[in-house]
Amino acid sequence: MNNLKKVTHVADFQRLARRRVPKMFYEYVDSGSWTESTYHSNEADLQRLLFKQRVAVNLEQRSLQSTMLGQTVRMPVALAPTGLTGMQYADGEILAAQAAKNFGVPFTLSTMSICSLEDIASHTQAPFWFQLYVMRDRSFMEALIDRAKAANCSALVVTLDLQVLGQRHKDIKNGLSTPPKPTLKNILNLATKPHWCAQMLKTPRRTFGNIVGHAKGVSDVSSLSVWTAEQFDPSLCWDDIAWIKKCWGGKLILKGIMEPEDAQLAVDAGADAIVVSNHGGRQLDGAPSTIAALPAIVAAVKGKTEIYFDGGIRGGQDVLRALALGADGVMIGRAFLYALGAAGQPGVERCLEMMANELDVTLALCGRRRISDIDSTVLKNPQLFA
Ligand code: GLV
Repeated sequence: MNNLKKVTHVADFQRLARRRVPKMFYEYVDSGSWTESTYHSNEADLQRLLFKQRVAVNLEQRSLQSTMLGQTVRMPVALAPTGLTGMQYADGEILAAQAAKNFGVPFTLSTMSICSLEDIASHTQAPFWFQLYVMRDRSFMEALIDRAKAANCSALVVTLDLQVLGQRHKDIKNGLSTPPKPTLKNILNLATKPHWCAQMLKTPRRTFGNIVGHAKGVSDVSSLSVWTAEQFDPSLCWDDIAWIKKCWGGKLILKGIMEPEDAQLAVDAGADAIVVSNHGGRQLDGAPSTIAALPAIVAAVKGKTEIYFDGGIRGGQDVLRALALGADGVMIGRAFLYALGAAGQPGVERCLEMMANELDVTLALCGRRRISDIDSTVLKNPQLFA
């Protein structure tokens, strides 16, 4: 893509992705559950936090460098686990992992990815994080954990908020499946996406790479909703986390925490980090935005575990807002997915560069030079969600 220079913010990537990616996969990303009110409030509530402009502060020698789980990162932003990433762009997970490595931030592979653990391990030298869903078939989970170890993953991210799937109207209306079923509607839509189709024809990776050929007893592996209904474990409880922690033996991140009580239970379970997340507004619609949920969680567990944040991050200013309210790091989902769908690996690298630049300049205009300088005093209204 040669017009990347004209892309100046994530909304540009979103517009390009809408044009380039088949409707069912673009809308899989751009959707929340039911009314989508939580999806939209994640973004809108972040905007309500105002910065305190400071002047005449020495702004030389600035740096965004930080650490996440002991790993040095160029900025405290990781790529979140996202399902079907290889349907935004052929081999999307491999490309996003390479972009994250080149930029210097962690990449997280979803259980529901198109490229497999082994694909990522063989295409990037950097250790990556693996996201695990708790499934009924414990032997399959154990095998996945062993595969994550063999792939040299440096952290396991266990997602706790998807024992049952929140309904996303668009996925039902679009008949979401991977690969898409050859219906007239899909064929007509694919005909308008020649670049996507040309890339996709060059790769063998078009279905769930971690699952197909590995899991037994799934009737329709092309369908996310059928697969989750059949396989995800509705009986998941904290004892299961203890079992996973023992099987894994490495760094553990628990994702989907929205309440201080659950944050404390995650600390008790030995989480090295938690992710304050409402799954991008894709699960419990009507829950508060993540930025509104963050302060109470920070008050409960800051310093006992690392606190990561996701939901609504579209630029460096949003990263700063989350860090100002006490997050130690941030995860981005849609922001990098739009960039990937629009422009592949260079798109994701550009997205990270834009985010870093916006974070750096905003930090400077708030009179700070380093990530460790950030606290609630960069904000005019830090008590907004207290
Ligand atoms: C799965 O993680 C989804 O949100 O679709």
